[in-house]
Amino acid sequence: MPRLRLIVVLLALVPPAWSQNPGGFTPGAAGLGDPLYPLAGNGGYDVEHYALTLDYQPATNHLVGTAEIRARATQGLSRFDLDLRGFALTRLLVDGRAASFTRSGQELVVTPRKGIPAGKAFTVIIDYAGTPEVVTDPDASIEGWIPTRDGAFVVGEPQGSPAWYPVNDNPRDKASYDFRVTVPAGLTVMANGVLVSSATSGGRTTWVWHAAEPMAPYLSTVTLGVFDLSVTTLAGGTPSYVAVDPQLGSTAVLAKLPDILAFYSSIYGPYPFAAAGAIVDDARFVGYALETQTKPVFDRMPDEATLAHELSHQWFGDSVTLIQWPDLWLHEGFATWSEWIWSEHNGGQSAQGFFDQLYSRSGSVDAFWNPPPGNPGSPALLFSASVYLRGGMTLQALRQRVGDPTFFRILSDWAAENRHGNVDTPRFIALAERDAGLSLAHFFDVWLYQLGKPVGW
Ligand code: TRP
Ligand code: ZN
Repeated sequence: MPRLRLIVVLLALVPPAWSQNPGGFTPGAAGLGDPLYPLAGNGGYDVEHYALTLDYQPATNHLVGTAEIRARATQGLSRFDLDLRGFALTRLLVDGRAASFTRSGQELVVTPRKGIPAGKAFTVIIDYAGTPEVVTDPDASIEGWIPTRDGAFVVGEPQGSPAWYPVNDNPRDKASYDFRVTVPAGLTVMANGVLVSSATSGGRTTWVWHAAEPMAPYLSTVTLGVFDLSVTTLAGGTPSYVAVDPQLGSTAVLAKLPDILAFYSSIYGPYPFAAAGAIVDDARFVGYALETQTKPVFDRMPDEATLAHELSHQWFGDSVTLIQWPDLWLHEGFATWSEWIWSEHNGGQSAQGFFDQLYSRSGSVDAFWNPPPGNPGSPALLFSASVYLRGGMTLQALRQRVGDPTFFRILSDWAAENRHGNVDTPRFIALAERDAGLSLAHFFDVWLYQLGKPVGW
């Protein structure tokens, strides 16, 4: 009895949640708490589809856009955020009704007229216009919407996508995309997925692309400019779109693209997307290439290793994607090792040859080995050479440890079991241990997490 009385008293004293907050609606979090980019992405909903209608004038660097975002609430939402940098908003609707909004840094805070119940699908329509931003990262590299001589180089790793559309900019919220981009006639727009149409009227061309498979926002692109576009069909029927800036020199290396994809399909499993290709721009000042989904984008004519690197990311990075940025070695270590196995496959230096050379030449020089690839530690160190090279060496050391049949099974199982998904390092270790029937905790601790040159693994 006393116990019951106590409960009754407490119920009377503590107002039920709904009286402060009818329907249980609370604000979605402003970020998803990534250790390196805590404000990237937002809480309380999952995006299912982006339909982006853009109009770009290179002469004035002016972008006019409409983003239609289909999402599903994962909590009762009184309000929610999107990520967007710059622009003036001229209309914002939630489920067809005007919603109020405020801006704070990269956060666009949207308050719908009524709360959105948990589990409910909803649609956001945003009209916006302005000059898109070039984003400078903590490591001083540039990304976002980067104007070129004849168009724009559009890349978003790790935080550039909000420079050109409102987005839940986190790799764990994959969605399908439609792009409809209008530019002056004579320019080509290269976006992700398959080409649906391109039609010219009144001196303007509208390019329509459809990307059906789930895509992390940082892998989206609408790189545009003067391009020679060639459309072919790969063995197996996948359309391949290769766009080359005609100012560049020999395109011979690009003829390798079908063979590289066929080789990776033979070891990693089926190519994960409905389209393939490459976008080769003349934008050397950018300083890097990016594995934009279905068609990596290059800032110059790549060498064969770089082409192979970006194509391998279609499996490791694009289809199988990290949950949090400190696990970037799951992309870059895999793509670096993929360069080596392509070389080995062609009778060039073997992956073990690359490993031996790096291991012996690099003594115990901390600058080569640090930061440890499993924990780069700060956003400025995310793309450190150790994440690429020591990350690739981790896989080659694993190959040595478990032998080729088991090692190749680990890679193809990893690609198959996490196709179009999101992963972290403990999940990779668990899969490797399962396939090998070994405890590999010490091995991965030495290779991924210990400072300095790995020894005694
Ligand atoms: N992920 C790219 C690759 O290796 C490289 C990259 C993207 C990068 N953004 C960057 C490198 C910023 C340095 C800085 O294929
Ligand atoms: Zn890479």
